[in-house]
Amino acid sequence: MLHELQRKEPYVSGMLAGKRLLVTGVLTEQSIAFSVARLAQEHGAKILLTGYGRMSLVERVAKRLPEPPPVIELDVTDPEQLAALVDNVRPHLDQLDGVLHAIAYGPPSTLGGGFLDAGWEDVATALQVSTYSYKALAMAALPLLSPGGALVGLTFDAGVAWPVYDWMGVAKAGLESTSRYLARYLGPKGIRSNLVSAGPLRTMAAKSIPGFEQFEEAWAERAPLGWQLADPEPAARACLALLSDWFPATTGEIVHVDGGYHAVGA
Ligand SMILES: NC(=O)c1ccc[n+]([C@@H]2O[C@H](COP(=O)([O-])OP(=O)(O)OC[C@H]3O[C@@H](n4cnc5c(N)ncnc54)[C@H](O)[C@@H]3O)[C@@H](O)[C@H]2O)c1
Repeated sequence: MLHELQRKEPYVSGMLAGKRLLVTGVLTEQSIAFSVARLAQEHGAKILLTGYGRMSLVERVAKRLPEPPPVIELDVTDPEQLAALVDNVRPHLDQLDGVLHAIAYGPPSTLGGGFLDAGWEDVATALQVSTYSYKALAMAALPLLSPGGALVGLTFDAGVAWPVYDWMGVAKAGLESTSRYLARYLGPKGIRSNLVSAGPLRTMAAKSIPGFEQFEEAWAERAPLGWQLADPEPAARACLALLSDWFPATTGEIVHVDGGYHAVGA
């Protein structure tokens, strides 16, 4: 299963040596962003975390990283906090080489089977936090990025209509398109934008989706490589690869890290 043998092989050391990364989306140790932060440090990057809401929880979780990094507050829906991002990053990192967007939220009415009844206000919140925020974060960080810089976000395959995923599926379709537009508009500045399309993982975000177990069962049956629901590391590794210098000519891309689920029929 994803594959014990591969996991035991030594990492290519220093893949991110000298990189300065802004990592959003750490909430618990299960957060995909936590694995990205841990692996990034293990591979030579300096990181800065942003936290949202429960800052003391994020700070406590940050202390479990190999080198506890600073944490700054960022609500991606707050224009003042976005405008202050550069000033808040600079005391810790003079520039950025990469930004991870690992943020999504949908109010309860937007997930779980009530697609036809969800009202605009809740849908608007889901789209602002989960879709528009990728562009908002990219623009807030832009003054710190230079050619070679990379933006990476996380999607859940938005090519089909899933059970229960509902407006979050619409938000992810928008995120996938937003990433392509960022690739278009920021490419001339030498900045890449790519997404990792992860299979289902047992994080806080997933737990808030009623009926999430349907994905778990589907992946167990269909993913040709098998799929570990409690292991965000494969998705995190792909994020790191896209943040590194090893995809220098790739932008607007979606890399599936789903055990191969998307590639096979039922
Ligand atoms: N867990 C899965 O099955 C799965 C699969 C594919 C993609 N993803 C995506 O991965 C990303 C990370 O999610 P996760 O699964 O690690 O869950 P998570 O709950 O650990 O992370 C979600 C993060 O979003 C943050 N957030 C919510 N509202 C915010 C706001 N207004 N401003 C700033 N941050 C805010 C939360 O604080 C949290 O850190 C999300 O985009 C999610 O949709 C998750």
